[in-house]
Amino acid sequence: MRGASGPREVDLPFDRPGHALTDGSMRSTILGSGHYVPTRVVTNDDLAKVMNTSDEWIQQRSGIKERRYVEGGGIGSSDLALPAARMALEQAGKTPADVDAIVFATISPDYNFPGSGVLLQHKLGLPGIPALDVRNQCSGFLYALSVGDAWVRAGVYRHVLVVGAEVHSTGLEFNDRGRDVTVLFGDGAGAVLLGPSPSDDRGILDIVLHSDGVGAKDLWSEVPASALEVRLNREMIDEGRHFARMNGKQVFRWATDKMPAVALESLARVGMTVEDVDLFIPHQANMRINQLVAMKLNLPQEKVVHNIDRYGNTTAATIPIGISESWRAGRMEPGTRVLFASFGAGYTWGAAVLRV
Ligand code: UT7
Repeated sequence: MRGASGPREVDLPFDRPGHALTDGSMRSTILGSGHYVPTRVVTNDDLAKVMNTSDEWIQQRSGIKERRYVEGGGIGSSDLALPAARMALEQAGKTPADVDAIVFATISPDYNFPGSGVLLQHKLGLPGIPALDVRNQCSGFLYALSVGDAWVRAGVYRHVLVVGAEVHSTGLEFNDRGRDVTVLFGDGAGAVLLGPSPSDDRGILDIVLHSDGVGAKDLWSEVPASALEVRLNREMIDEGRHFARMNGKQVFRWATDKMPAVALESLARVGMTVEDVDLFIPHQANMRINQLVAMKLNLPQEKVVHNIDRYGNTTAATIPIGISESWRAGRMEPGTRVLFASFGAGYTWGAAVLRV
């Protein structure tokens, strides 16, 4: 563990090759990445058939052209996560048996409880390994990454599978009342396998996280709610209180303020500037948000990864999908310095710096 008192001696469950940082811990890195999106493509015109919206409005306001929905009932977030995880393991040259722990970020778990982490663990055939669910919405992946990074650094677990996966389509409101939220979201999954970095100057150099519950009700799904005397009843369902509700303009303002600030904060912590960034993989909530953030950071658009046009907002999955696609497009060659930033419900936000 890192802390003011310095490194402490721990009994490690495995031999610990790899590089020791000056404080005695070891840097983690992404050994492999993968993603999966359902085959069913839903265009803006498809949505315009069931609610008062248009391809023009959606593209102008968000940059989204289409998104993916699961092909039918019975497919949960853990089902989308499974092929993404297998792809990450394959790229890393590992098998499921190499995974020591799972951190699963989602706001759309397969069931109310237990979380999707244990379902993925079972589907991967890994009885007994720990599985942790993280609920930090659009920042879920960076929060999950920080847990996995800390575990690897501290020598608690050697290989940590970090997943972001969402099935939103079964929780969207396909009518005019819900159109502002519905048009934005899609289904998908991404995963990375974290493990010890081969050298000190490679791997996850920094992760910084923030939250502010002042905005909790600006983007939320209220019920079922343990804070209410009755968690869920017919009246609440009729009022649509189980669907996500958003104060879009307020979230937009916060996102375009906090994402550049936290990105600069993370870069400063590792002695880097925006000029050092080769690739920027921001959370994909809105193309306009990401263009504005890049502009505020003075980052040329060709360094910015966008996939919102094809997938919409897949919440915890956007960044790992971005990683997996960028890797396969040859944009994450060894040495590439990658900046990540996210902002989402909570509010929660964060940034990270990786040197591939
Ligand atoms: O990842 C989680 C974080 N989420 C975000 O970061 C989302 C942040 N917010 C946004 O991206 C934008 O606020 C939206 C894309 C959600 C909306 O864009 P906007 O420019 O803020 O539009 P608006 O909410 O002010 O709505 C403008 C108009 C309204 O009509 P009036 O009041 O001007 O007559 C809305 O009722 O657009 C109407 N509208 C729609 N029209 C067609 C809202 N949704 C739709 C729709 N289709 N789907």
